Amino acid sequence: MHKKAKVVPQPKVNPQQHAKMAEDMKQRLKVEELAENIDELEDVVEDVFPLLMITVIISSLILVIFLIRMYIRYSVNNPSKNRMDGRTVLITGGTSGLGKATAVELAKRNARVIITGRDLVKAEAIARNIRKKTGNQQVNAVHLDLGSLRNIRDFADDFSKSEKFLHVLINNAAYMGPKSVTDDGLERTLAVNYLGHFYLTHLLTDKLKKNAPSRIINVISDTYVRGKIDFDDLALNKGYSVYGAYTRSKLAQVMFMLECHRRLFSSCVWSFGVHPGACNTELLRNYPGMMGNILRVISRVMFKSPEDGCQTIVYCAVSDGLREFSGKIFSNCKALKPSDKVKDKDVAKKLWNVSAQLCGFKDETPPEEAAAPAPSTEEKKEQ
Ligand SMILES: NC(=O)c1ccc[n+]([C@@H]2O[C@H](COP(=O)([O-])OP(=O)(O)OC[C@H]3O[C@@H](n4cnc5c(N)ncnc54)[C@H](OP(=O)(O)O)[C@@H]3O)[C@@H](O)[C@H]2O)c1
Repeated sequence: MHKKAKVVPQPKVNPQQHAKMAEDMKQRLKVEELAENIDELEDVVEDVFPLLMITVIISSLILVIFLIRMYIRYSVNNPSKNRMDGRTVLITGGTSGLGKATAVELAKRNARVIITGRDLVKAEAIARNIRKKTGNQQVNAVHLDLGSLRNIRDFADDFSKSEKFLHVLINNAAYMGPKSVTDDGLERTLAVNYLGHFYLTHLLTDKLKKNAPSRIINVISDTYVRGKIDFDDLALNKGYSVYGAYTRSKLAQVMFMLECHRRLFSSCVWSFGVHPGACNTELLRNYPGMMGNILRVISRVMFKSPEDGCQTIVYCAVSDGLREFSGKIFSNCKALKPSDKVKDKDVAKKLWNVSAQLCGFKDETPPEEAAAPAPSTEEKKEQ
């Protein structure tokens, strides 16, 4: 027989309770949905957060680089608008970077500009370009390899005969790179950056004296304070580093600048050192290894342009009133005192004598102390 199902009596729910339960259920569903959304949001944030952080870091870096660049750029202010009509300027290493930019600036001020280059075809093309750009037809190029003493001698000989004037000599060319020796058997960095300029200046001193008041501008670097000169190891056989060789050559250049000041100031030939600051030029092209790659990237991103970098060189070439600053180093168109490191006159004299020997001449000029003679009428005009 079919058993009759037992009917379980349902608890009686009143309509109010029912509505409340329905409301509770809805709330619970909403909370669950919200929790799910929060979980999803957390997943998204977890995915996006590293990207966000990278974006923030990169943007901050770009901003910092931009601000540093702006600071570097606008900290150079050449106040002199002087023209150079009738003045002759010789710039070594005028085929790239600061030498080329200086040549353009001085050509714009109507100087007669002679740039030198190791590669005459390249140098002539650059001179042609500058003539076209500035409209100044007195821009010429001449071959000069500062790594060859014989070439320097021949160049100075020709220059003295062919050029009537020399008012400003800018010793600018430089080498920075792996160890190598010149045809004369000398360590290349010292030979090109310092010794070649030492010899060139020596050979052109008479011309500078005849055209006094005249100027010798040595483009140095503030890294000279890290340089060390060991007279027993000029070939750097005890150990070579690109930076060590470079800073040594710049130290020698600063000592040379000071010695020129001591010897030539009384003849109204004024000597200056210019630190152009860090500039994006070709100087690092031969810097080897990973360090070279890093430095070249930093140079492209952070350093000032050659056009900005050359302003202090131009200032020292054209500005009035620099007589009293002979023997000083300029940076951002302001005179700085050379470091104590270069103040030892005996070391400077020794360097001069050793250099004269290496160049094959006997130094017969006794160093004159730089007493300040009363300015000549022409000098007064210049001041
Ligand atoms: N750039 C910087 O951040 C910086 C900072 C402080 C000081 N400086 C100084 O600024 C000066 C100019 O350098 P830069 O930065 O304009 O470098 P750059 O672009 O490399 O120019 C160097 C010039 O020197 C010439 N040169 C190299 N070896 C030579 C040799 N054996 N004989 C004749 N010329 C030679 C080069 O001619 P080629 O075209 O034939 O190679 C080039 O014209 C240097 O004295 C350097 O020490 C530069």
